[in-house]
Amino acid sequence: MALYTNDSKERVRDAVDMVDLVSSRVELKRAGANRLTGLCPFHDERSPSFGINPVEKVYHCFGCQASGDAFTFVMETEGVDFKGALEHLADRYKVTLELEDEDPQAAERRKRRERLLELLERTATFYVRQLWESQEAAKAREYLAARGLQEATLREFRVGYAPSAWDTVLNGSRRAGFGNRELYDAGLAQKSQSSGRIYDRFRSQIIFPLADPRGRVRGFAGRTMGGEGDRRPKYVNSPEGELFHKGKTLFAADLARAAAAKAQSVVAAEGYTDVIALHQAGVRNAVGIMGTALTEDQIGELARLAPEVRLALDADSAGQTAMLRAARIAAGRKPPLRLRVVGLPPGDDPADLVQREGGEAITRLVESAVPFARFRVQRRLATGDLATAEGRDRVLHELREDFSLLEPSAEREELARIAASRLDLSPELLESLLARAPARPGEPAGPDGSARIAAPPAPRLGRRDPTERSFLALCIALPDLGEPALAELDPDADLSSDVARRAAAHLRARLRSPTEGLDELYDGELVALVRELAVRATAMTSASRRDFEIERLQLALARLGREIAAARAQGAEIQELAARRSEMRAHLDRLMEQV
Ligand code: UTP
Ligand code: MN
Repeated sequence: MALYTNDSKERVRDAVDMVDLVSSRVELKRAGANRLTGLCPFHDERSPSFGINPVEKVYHCFGCQASGDAFTFVMETEGVDFKGALEHLADRYKVTLELEDEDPQAAERRKRRERLLELLERTATFYVRQLWESQEAAKAREYLAARGLQEATLREFRVGYAPSAWDTVLNGSRRAGFGNRELYDAGLAQKSQSSGRIYDRFRSQIIFPLADPRGRVRGFAGRTMGGEGDRRPKYVNSPEGELFHKGKTLFAADLARAAAAKAQSVVAAEGYTDVIALHQAGVRNAVGIMGTALTEDQIGELARLAPEVRLALDADSAGQTAMLRAARIAAGRKPPLRLRVVGLPPGDDPADLVQREGGEAITRLVESAVPFARFRVQRRLATGDLATAEGRDRVLHELREDFSLLEPSAEREELARIAASRLDLSPELLESLLARAPARPGEPAGPDGSARIAAPPAPRLGRRDPTERSFLALCIALPDLGEPALAELDPDADLSSDVARRAAAHLRARLRSPTEGLDELYDGELVALVRELAVRATAMTSASRRDFEIERLQLALARLGREIAAARAQGAEIQELAARRSEMRAHLDRLMEQV
């Protein structure tokens, strides 16, 4: 792998604006002079426990203990590796990256990949020009217009047209210096079984470029226009290869990502035209799953875009199966991905709906998407046979499973009320029937209806030493007081955990730039703690000398407490220690009163 120089990495770190970066994902609120907090993007929460330190450029969540810097933030929120994060940040903050001398083989591979991407990029541009300029594409233009898709929208999606000749892309690319091997590997050419010759894969088709979330074209989908004699399937994709994996691709992820992050929600539709129509209607956070079989990887990609997915899939049985599958996978994720269902009229897809009823019809439906559990219950009530007692029993049996997935909540109450009235039962009777063992023990579910497989989040690690943490954080916030205090500290006696001692040692040397000189490779635990302290410190910058004194006393008290416990365990005298403790407590009380 091509390595970027260490210097590049540091220049990127310097250039990052942490507030700007984090704000792309988290709505940060000012909670104090230097304190910015928000809802943690790494776990589900209702009140903010996520904070950043804009100067040190680190973040920490007091809820889930996630912590990191600009690089890990991008890695985790964008789902990229370190290199991807570096490139993302370099791009965003306009830093030119420099490559380390790489080994010749790796350099070769990287160049090859870049060539293939370049080939795909220029081919995409070629197809677009064909669509708007060539005679031959007139019927494609008419077709798209007839489907209600406007030129501006189509240009934004870089929709194009592949001419009918067998070798247009081949010849054009060869003239630009690309070889047969490259054309084949980029998925643009295919080999004839009989003659062994290669020819253009996409011909006489409308072309939808398939880009990765960073907007690099990885492959194409070609759609036939169904002329007579055209027996090809409606859509053909680029073959699976080193650049394109259909099961990992979401159509238009690049175009939808900003809107999805902002809305904290992403809309998933089945088809290319659906997504384009949705965007044209103003639903800018829509992506395509390219058919109904949602893969686990695609759900991972969706989760990367937003914590909530609104499924705008056909209500037919394939769509139903896809939704159920999505619900299972979404539930198994941590944090669980919330799922809602857009209630499309049966047999309609978003593109048809937009064309027939206009953009507002679809935006209304997207806005009123219901939680998955509610959708399931409503559907059972709508499709079950409620006319006979036997039919109602069957529905009740199915509902028991659905309800077993719902935790007590207002949503559950309401669904139970609806179900009772439709099944012609008193709410009490329904509840008692539902309360029996569920039809099939399934996964428990969140109150929003997102099924949840895992038990509630694991209990947090015991905060054994809050006093030590706030003392160390205060040292960072008030370095003039912190420096002498740290120098006087007896880490072995004053601090209870080993990592706190390492942090104290680190801070002795780096109190004024605490996150500098930390190497995660050697001590990840220390790095995480120092980041946490740096974020804590942002809440303490207006602390007084007295506050500092209080913190120090508390630390000393905790130490005395440990000494007393140890003495007791050994059967030693504790009177003197206990007397010192009450003296210290009295002193602390006096100080606290003054605050
Ligand atoms: P649909 O058959 O619902 O097509 O397939 P569509 O999106 O409504 O197509 P238009 O609007 O007539 O152009 C939904 C999606 O399934 C994938 C495509 O991604 C398509 O958009 N698909 C479908 C294929 O990959 N191959 C096929 O042959 C058909
Ligand atoms: Mn369609």
